[in-house]
Amino acid sequence: MIRKYTFGLPIDTNAVIAEIKSEDILSFPLELKTGERLQISFDLLSDEMIFGLGEAIRGINKRGWTYESWCSDETNHTEDKKALYGSHNFIVVGDRFALFVDFAGKVEWDLGYDKPDRAVITLDGNDADVYIIYGKNQRDMVVQFRKIIGKSYIPPRWAFGYQQSCWGYATQEDFYTVRDRHRENKLPLDAIYMDIDYMDSFKDFTVNSERFPDFQAFVDSMKRENIHLVPIIDAGVKREKGYSVYDEGHEKGYFCTDKDGKEFECGVWPGIVGLPDFLNSDARRWFGSKYEALLRCGIDGFWNDMNEPALFYSKRGLEKAVAKLKQITPDTMDIGGFFEMRNVLFGMQNSYDDYCSIYHNLDGKRVCHKDVHNIYGAFMTRAASEYFEEKYGKEKILMFSRASYIGTHRYSGIWFGDNFSWWSHILLNLKLLPSASMCGYLYCGADIGGFNNNVTRDLLLRWLALGVFTPLMRNHRALGTRAQEAYNFENVEDFSDVLAVRYRLLPYLYSAFRKASDTDDMLFRPLAFDYPDDKIAREVEDQLMLSDECMIAPVYEQNKSGRNVYLPEPMTLYLLSGERITEEPLEKGLHYIEVALNEVPLFVRNGKKIPLAKPAMNTAELDWENISFLG
Ligand code: GLC
Repeated sequence: MIRKYTFGLPIDTNAVIAEIKSEDILSFPLELKTGERLQISFDLLSDEMIFGLGEAIRGINKRGWTYESWCSDETNHTEDKKALYGSHNFIVVGDRFALFVDFAGKVEWDLGYDKPDRAVITLDGNDADVYIIYGKNQRDMVVQFRKIIGKSYIPPRWAFGYQQSCWGYATQEDFYTVRDRHRENKLPLDAIYMDIDYMDSFKDFTVNSERFPDFQAFVDSMKRENIHLVPIIDAGVKREKGYSVYDEGHEKGYFCTDKDGKEFECGVWPGIVGLPDFLNSDARRWFGSKYEALLRCGIDGFWNDMNEPALFYSKRGLEKAVAKLKQITPDTMDIGGFFEMRNVLFGMQNSYDDYCSIYHNLDGKRVCHKDVHNIYGAFMTRAASEYFEEKYGKEKILMFSRASYIGTHRYSGIWFGDNFSWWSHILLNLKLLPSASMCGYLYCGADIGGFNNNVTRDLLLRWLALGVFTPLMRNHRALGTRAQEAYNFENVEDFSDVLAVRYRLLPYLYSAFRKASDTDDMLFRPLAFDYPDDKIAREVEDQLMLSDECMIAPVYEQNKSGRNVYLPEPMTLYLLSGERITEEPLEKGLHYIEVALNEVPLFVRNGKKIPLAKPAMNTAELDWENISFLG
């Protein structure tokens, strides 16, 4: 049962697609404070758990911390942070109710932080639709929610293969090397990512002709080898006269403005850019059609980046900062002055003041960016995907986005942004999966091996063993970090063993994915959803249920030859490595399991059968029909 309450005059965020009649707000069942900022609060029961918030830091159970919905270009995914790249205002409160706050501005979530037994949700505004969902249990509430926000995006099948990425592959030779070295080392591969260096001066929809003298021939030759190329597209469009994308957008008035109606200027990778006004439907259609320049060459996948939007600085912010710095002289500067100077410089990036000074033309209505911030990136991805679907049909083009809102799951997947090569980030990757699943993000994954910092061989192997199960399985790293392609490490056979497991399990993983999408269900669930009465299972934060058949429990600590696992019911443990499989039936309870670096542990519920294919070097060569079974 779903109840909708409409406060004020909310804008259409495109999150909910079902028609639901609003109830009288006087019957709103939770405590409410109206005024400039709508506030919803309620008491929490003593051992009540809170799940949700999609892409957010900290535990699977979200209780006890304070979060913010504010799409953020946040490079440090540490526990003190309140927001990451996506804004997903959906929580499930014990088995009492679920709540979706459909509001495109900032939302603060105090979930037992100020007072342990109290939740207070504060909106930076008072125009919102609030949905309260009642159901049989947590999973049922999620399914009901998913039914009103629409079916999850399904990418083409090749996008379930292993993918290699690196910010720094610049020339076509770099790409051939990645392809060949995977081949030589018997490492399967389906796609290689093109980060910003493929472009001409970081200009969207251009290709650097010196580095790629015949781009079409390059794409074709990769395709013949079953390698898909996936270029990045950034939100900001370089402000450069003579660059057709900018010129067209400028002439048509498709860029965001400041309060005086002048194009808002900010600095991102290409230097000063204009921000396309994705909230405007004409601008959306225009931007979506620009992808054609690459699609025409045979490109069939993209990742949309920097679309929170990320602002390194604004022209206005820079002018203010320079004026401030000019007042400082080395002779007069004291410690206070030093910190002030530092704050001026660092404060320019993604500044709230800048977000407050950007304006959109929402199909005729002028709105301030801060009130629609959380749907900006979502609408960029909508622009692309609406074009893809209209022109190429469903399931043809891979698309995933960094920023997202509720509803983006109909258009694309997401990746979890700039993590680190830290052991704790393997665990964070795992914890993000069920909450992303709750919001319909079935196609998702983290940068395997870690984006920032230097990877180690063991960390990459352990992370890959989790990545075997994530629909997006992409190894990606930042410029200047240690080489992270599997072929750079000793005993490369260990990597082939782990990657082979991914391909062997693909018939299962792909069908589990489709089932979750077809039935509006979760692909990954916290154990608490399946075993609500099992005190130990309820609190497990490092194991997940996968579809209806399995449980996963990766090793995520350094120098560990295994880990403790809790089985809430009898299951069989399979250790998979290349074509080798060992099997051990285990009783309900606590177990210590040994897992070698080249093994992938999988726990299968009794009576369930898992299809297995023969290993393959890519999804095109995989024999999807000729299968055997585990269990
Ligand atoms: C952002 C993206 C990252 C990409 C980099 C350069 O930090 O999150 O994945 O590699 O920009 O484009």
